[in-house]
Amino acid sequence: MATSPRRGRPSVAALVAALAVLHAAAVATAAAATCAGVAPAKRRPEVVSITDFGGVGDGRTLNTWAFRKAVYRIQHQRRRGGTTLRVPAGTWLTGSFNLTSHMTLFLARGAVLKATRDAGTWPLVEPLPSYGRGRELPGPRYASFIHGNGLRDVVITGDKGVIDGQGEVWWNMWRQKTLQHTRPNLVELMHSTGIHISNIVLKNSPFWNIHPVYCQDVVVTNMMILAPHDSPNTDGIDPDSSSNVCIEDSYISTGDDAVAIKSGWDEYGIAYGRPSSGITVRRVRGSSPFSGIAIGSEASGGVSDVLVEDCSIFDSGYGIHIKTNVGRGGYIRNVTVDGVRMSRVRNGVRIAGDVGDHPDGRFSQRALPTVDAVRIRNVWGVGVQQPGSLEGIRNSPFTGICLSNVKLFGWRNDAAWRCRDVRGAALGVQPWPCAELATSAGSSCSY
Ligand SMILES: *[C@@H]1O[C@H](CO)[C@@H](O)[C@H](O)[C@H]1NC(C)=O
Ligand SMILES: *[C@@H]1O[C@H](CO)[C@@H](O)[C@H](O)[C@H]1NC(C)=O
Repeated sequence: MATSPRRGRPSVAALVAALAVLHAAAVATAAAATCAGVAPAKRRPEVVSITDFGGVGDGRTLNTWAFRKAVYRIQHQRRRGGTTLRVPAGTWLTGSFNLTSHMTLFLARGAVLKATRDAGTWPLVEPLPSYGRGRELPGPRYASFIHGNGLRDVVITGDKGVIDGQGEVWWNMWRQKTLQHTRPNLVELMHSTGIHISNIVLKNSPFWNIHPVYCQDVVVTNMMILAPHDSPNTDGIDPDSSSNVCIEDSYISTGDDAVAIKSGWDEYGIAYGRPSSGITVRRVRGSSPFSGIAIGSEASGGVSDVLVEDCSIFDSGYGIHIKTNVGRGGYIRNVTVDGVRMSRVRNGVRIAGDVGDHPDGRFSQRALPTVDAVRIRNVWGVGVQQPGSLEGIRNSPFTGICLSNVKLFGWRNDAAWRCRDVRGAALGVQPWPCAELATSAGSSCSY
């Protein structure tokens, strides 16, 4: 039996090499933090191909049955360490299908997973309890194209393969007001733990692109998410009532918020009471006619412990947008935004208490949200038409709003910060912030 070098006594050279690697890793960590460890892309001992289940990648054959069979097989054979379902190069038309635990969906280079445009056969699912109804229309909602519920250890990855939602048909139904139910998300995981999504392209989602809801330990990394700027509600990534979620190193250009952190809405979100917390958004570049990085407006279960760092937002409506409304209840607190570059945005920073609609008329006027401890620092913007607005709610002022080293350029001479019902402090903010912040320096802000 050959002696493996690992079993012998390590040589000095090997030790030095190992130390050098460790040192390099430590330096790399200091230079570029990542949260790849939150839910790593595991190697699976078993790989099967969609062609093993009769899949045909000709762009015309409907492969729904092949995907469902493949997932059924993975779910029931329960191979130790899980199974990878490989989708080779080709165009694979399919209807919505569910994933299962301990599986990897791998899209090879040149693979395009294309959603059927047949809304008539699209499955329906119950509304989310924290929304009480479909997000757009009362009653049930269309299942997401790629769906998962109650799963553990799920990876969706590839070698730049594509998931194409063919959303146009849905956007047109929305435009023509002929939708029967709330449109499908492209990828939704509910009640799941250990989700890793990386290295693929998502395009033309009918509705939101990636929606982890009631999940924990979620990583979304190295993604490209694309939809036309005029496509309705095509949010990029919406962590919703989920904890320990890390989004990084991604490019998002869609028709609605690039990233929006949520937790249900109004009386339904308050009753369900499941917050989003421990959310990191790092090295995301993006463009949206609405917000680059948003929190809300659905935040009724509460949103806390959010870190946004090293992001670039361009050609957008709002750079950073924290939004809520009377009736939402809940809280948004302990939010740090550190290091954001903006160019050509209409409104740099907006924190607002009057945004978003309601599921029905049963929300309580007394359900006032709180917004507290929001630190925004090291923001540099050019071509910013309006620096921003910080407008809290009467009888529920936003507190601990701390801006430091926020420099925004490009506004017209008469553009100024608009503030009301807000307390906090500002240091090194250009243009000069409103009196509400300037005069309450020291109030619970430590830079
Ligand atoms: C997919 O999962 C949903 C529950 O999330 C279930 O209602 C539906 O029957 C599943 N579909 C298939 C084809 O297994
Ligand atoms: C605030 O959130 C950060 C994560 O962004 C977390 O590390 C920290 O412990 C939180 N602080 C408090 C006081 O909860």
